[in-house]
Amino acid sequence: MTTKAPWSDGPLCYGGDWNPEQWPPHVWREDIALMRDAGVNLVTVGVFAWSRLEPEPGRHTLDWLDRILDLLHPAGIRAALATPTASPPPWFSLRHPDALPVTADGVRLTHGSRDTYCAAAPAYRDAARSIAGVLATRYADHPALALWHVHNEYGTTCHCPHAEAAFRRWLTGRYGDLDALNDAWVTSFWSQHYTDWAQVGTPRATQYLANPGQLLDFRRFWSDTLLSAYTEQRALLRAANPAVPVTTNCVLGDWVPIDHARWAREVDVVTIDHYPTTADLGAEEQTAFAADLARGWARHGAGHAAPWLLAESAPNQIHTAGRMHTKEPGRMTRHSLAHVARGSAGVMFFQWRAPAGGAERFHSAVVSHAGADTRVFREATDLGAALARLAGTAPGRVEASVAIAYDAASGWALRHPGMPRAGLDHPGEAAAAHRALWHAGVAADVVPPGTPLDGARLLVLPALYLASDATIDWVRRHVDAGGHLLVTWLSGVANEHARVRLGGYPGAYRDLLGVRVEEFHPLADDEEVPLTGGGTGRIWSERVHLAGAETVRAYAGGVLDGRPAITRRRVGDAYVWYVSTRPDDDTYRRLLTEAARLAGATPTCPDAPPGVEAVRRHDTDGSLLYLLNHTDRPQRVPAAGFELLTGATVDGVLTVAPGGVAVVREEPS
Ligand code: GLA
Repeated sequence: MTTKAPWSDGPLCYGGDWNPEQWPPHVWREDIALMRDAGVNLVTVGVFAWSRLEPEPGRHTLDWLDRILDLLHPAGIRAALATPTASPPPWFSLRHPDALPVTADGVRLTHGSRDTYCAAAPAYRDAARSIAGVLATRYADHPALALWHVHNEYGTTCHCPHAEAAFRRWLTGRYGDLDALNDAWVTSFWSQHYTDWAQVGTPRATQYLANPGQLLDFRRFWSDTLLSAYTEQRALLRAANPAVPVTTNCVLGDWVPIDHARWAREVDVVTIDHYPTTADLGAEEQTAFAADLARGWARHGAGHAAPWLLAESAPNQIHTAGRMHTKEPGRMTRHSLAHVARGSAGVMFFQWRAPAGGAERFHSAVVSHAGADTRVFREATDLGAALARLAGTAPGRVEASVAIAYDAASGWALRHPGMPRAGLDHPGEAAAAHRALWHAGVAADVVPPGTPLDGARLLVLPALYLASDATIDWVRRHVDAGGHLLVTWLSGVANEHARVRLGGYPGAYRDLLGVRVEEFHPLADDEEVPLTGGGTGRIWSERVHLAGAETVRAYAGGVLDGRPAITRRRVGDAYVWYVSTRPDDDTYRRLLTEAARLAGATPTCPDAPPGVEAVRRHDTDGSLLYLLNHTDRPQRVPAAGFELLTGATVDGVLTVAPGGVAVVREEPS
C-alpha cells in the first residue's frame, strides 16, 4: 500500500454515496447546496451507473457525469469516482449469456438485481476493463477527482465453465502437480484421487459432504480471481494518472470469499462498509470490532500503522434481521466517531439521498424521503461540524497492547461440513474476545497472522483453526520475544490446507502450551458446563491432558469433571494460556482482563465509568482521548487537556453528555 492518501494531513473525509443518475438536474443543485450545509467534502459517484454511462455496447453517455464533476469542484466537494462494474446493464446479459453466474446447483442467474456476472468470464472482464478505461481517460485529471472507487463490495462466486477452467489454472499454480493437490486435499478419502486435471472441478452440489480442502481452495481462488479483476482496473486507472489513489470498498461477513489481509496490500487505502446487525449495545461492540479489524488490515497492508476509511455506514438505521431499527438521536455520531477514534480518515454514509424506488428505497439516507428538514439531516450537519473541528487529527496510532489474530481462511474452514459441531465461527470468536476486552476498557488490535506485533504484550488466538508453518513461526517469535499468549479451542488444529496436524490437538501449539487434547466434547446450543471458581463453559469442551501447563480452572461436572478447562504455562517471564471452552461473557471478560493485566496491558482509561468507551490515539502532536458515552446519563471521566468539539479546557474531570462524545487533546503528563 502506498501512502499518497490526500486526506492524510487535511480535513477528515465526510460524505457518502451519491447517485445523481437517479434524479433530474435541479435535484443535483439542491443536493450540492445541502452537502455544503452539512459540511460534506467527498462523495462516491457512479457506483451503479453503468447502464447510464454505456446504454448500448460501446456507446458512452458521459455528459451528465461531466456536469456532476463540474458542479462538485467549485463547491469544494471531491469525488470518489466509482467504476460501475458491480452492476452490468441488461444488454450485457443478453449479449454474453455465458458470462452470467452459475450457482453450485447449476442454476444460471440473470439480471434483475446487481452483481450478475462471473468475474472469471472473459466477456465480463473485457467489458469491465473497457468501461473503467473510458472513465480513466475522461476523468483522471479532473480537479474534483480525489479517489478511484473500483467496483462495489467484491464478493461473488460462480461455477460456470469459465470459473471451472480458471479454478483449475489457479490450482495448477498453487500445487504444481496433481500429487501435491491429492496430498493437500487428502483425496485418498472416499476415492477422490485425481489422475487428470480435467477431473478437478468447482465444488458443485454433490451427493453428500464435499471435500474440505476443495471448499477452502475454492474460496481462496475467488479471493484471488476477484483481486485480479480489481488490479487490472487499477492498472488502467493508475496509468491514466498515478497520483490518484485507488481502492475498493470491502464488505464484512464470513460469507464473503475475500481474504482482506491479502487485498490490503493492493489498495491505496483500506476501506470498509460497516452496518451493525443488532439494535442493542451489540451495535457499539460490533462498531469497535469492525474498526479495529479495518485498522489491522491497514497495518498489515502497509507494514505499519496506516489510516483507513469507513466507506459506507447507515446514517439513521440499523438493519437487524427482518427489521429496520431507527437509530436513536446521537447514535449516528457515536458510531461515526468510534470509527474515527480508531483511525478512520473520515465518515462516509450509504447513502446521501434515498431513492424513490428500487430494491433499497427504504434504506438509510442523509436526505430522506421527507427531505432535509429532518432530525437525521440536522444530526448529519452537526456531525459535519464536529469532523471539521477534528481536522488534522488523523491518522495517528491507536494505543493498544493486546492483539487478536483474525484469519479469513480459518473462518471459512470452520464453516465446512463434517466439523464436530455446527456453528463454529472464528470471526465470532475473535469478536467475542474483542467484546470481552471492550467491556473491560482494554484496547485491542485485530490483526491477520504475520502482521508485525510491535507493542502487543498479549496475543490472542481465538479458534484460529488453520496454522501454516509461517503462522506457527509468527506466534513463536512473539513468545520468544517475551510476549504473552492466550490460545482458545480449535486453534492450530489443522494446517493451511485444513489437513489435521496429528499427535493430539492443538498440533500447532501443544508443546508451547504444555497441553495435549485427546478428545473433543462439543456442547449443545443450550448446554453449559460449570467451571471451578464460578462461571460456565459453552459451545465446546475438551479432554485436556497437562504436559507442562498447570490448571487454572477445571470442569466441574459432566464427563470431564475435575479435568483441566483453562491452563497456563510460564515461558520465561510470560504466560501462555489455553482455554478449551468458551467461558460465559462475564468469566471471559475476567479471564482476558487478568491475562492482559499480567501481560502489562491495562484499560485505556482505568477510571472511566461503565458504559463510557475510551480510545487513545497518539500522533505527532501528542495524544487524543476519545470518550464515547453509551449511557443515557451524564458521565464524569478523569481527563486533562483541551476538548476539541466544544473548545473547552478540561481540568481534571470532564462530563460527557448522555449519549455524547468528547475528544480531548491531552496535556502531556
Ligand atoms: C452495501 C452496498 C450498498 C448498499 C448497502 C445497503 O454496503 O455496498 O450498495 O446495498 O449495503 O445497506
